[in-house]
Amino acid sequence: MKIGILTGGGDCPGLNAVIRAVVRKGIFHHQDEFVGFLEGWRGVMEDQTIRLTLDSIAGILPRGGTILRTSRTNPAKKEGGMTQCLETLKRQAVEALVVLGGDDTQSVTYRLHEMGFKVVGVPKTIDNDLSGTDFCFGFDTAVNIATEAIDRVHTTAEAHNRVIVVEVMGRDSGWIAIYSGIAGGADVILIPERPFDLNDVAETIRHRHARGRYFSVVVIAEGARLAAGIDEQIVAEKGKKDEFGHVRLGGIGTIIAQELEKRTGFETRAVVLGHIQRGGSPTAFDRMLATRYGIGAIDAVHRSDFGKMVALRGTNIVTIPLKEALSRTRTVGQDLIDVANGLRENANRPL
Ligand code: F6P
Repeated sequence: MKIGILTGGGDCPGLNAVIRAVVRKGIFHHQDEFVGFLEGWRGVMEDQTIRLTLDSIAGILPRGGTILRTSRTNPAKKEGGMTQCLETLKRQAVEALVVLGGDDTQSVTYRLHEMGFKVVGVPKTIDNDLSGTDFCFGFDTAVNIATEAIDRVHTTAEAHNRVIVVEVMGRDSGWIAIYSGIAGGADVILIPERPFDLNDVAETIRHRHARGRYFSVVVIAEGARLAAGIDEQIVAEKGKKDEFGHVRLGGIGTIIAQELEKRTGFETRAVVLGHIQRGGSPTAFDRMLATRYGIGAIDAVHRSDFGKMVALRGTNIVTIPLKEALSRTRTVGQDLIDVANGLRENANRPL
């Protein structure tokens, strides 16, 4: 069978491990042939491809990024874009497509499925916010990087009597913030799911320092929202949107640090982790999960289980309808918020 593979959206540690697993099982067990589309949906629209062979995937398991490169190209937003994709797939004689991506990328996969093309999705996002799966690969790596950063920030904050605000990724959900915040012992964790009041955060820090502590660490997701106050536009970089309509985030940590310093009188600094969380080698957990997803995807292709996304449910790899994965953003639940609050002196104030 001739199978196409692409990686779309932001990169994510483990993409190469998925590609490797799909190609190895496909060639060793089914004599499949593979074509890799370059730079996400752009490669499908513009017919930019490479052959994926055992040689071209050798040694990629521990490598971050993606050998297919990626983009946020959205063919559904371009006139005739979807038809162009179908034409390329026909020209390349591709019989099925395995798509590695988050909700934006998979929304295009679903469009192709509705147009009758055979597709299987693999959930990818360090934000961990895709529905229908317990974990996306890449998330564990991001959490480990963020936790290590919080540990390091702790010792320097303590040495200098400072408050340090650590900004992590997470546009619509605070998974990275809450996992790394709890694992790193942060004093305040701010996530998009719970809009917060700066006066409450300042009061939490003042209170902690009043009982003898002389430093604090705040973890904030880039998409965290203020209950009232600073205009969102100050936080987002004005005007810059991707093809899926998302404003480029980043910078809320710096603004919050300035405001906290004003309100508490304690010296406050900000650290923005940004793409450091997405780069580099995947953890062993992510390599395992990515490999299991890859095997699950090629197995789905050969069972003709199309229009589906592979997913982790408990400890099992299953397939779920793509539509279910796209139905809503998976946000942090009350159970984890309760864990974070259980560790805090005054849980009435925001996380
Ligand atoms: O979608 C994952 C994500 O890491 C978001 O948390 C973040 O807002 C976005 O990607 C950044 O994307 P880019 O690297 O394209 O600016």
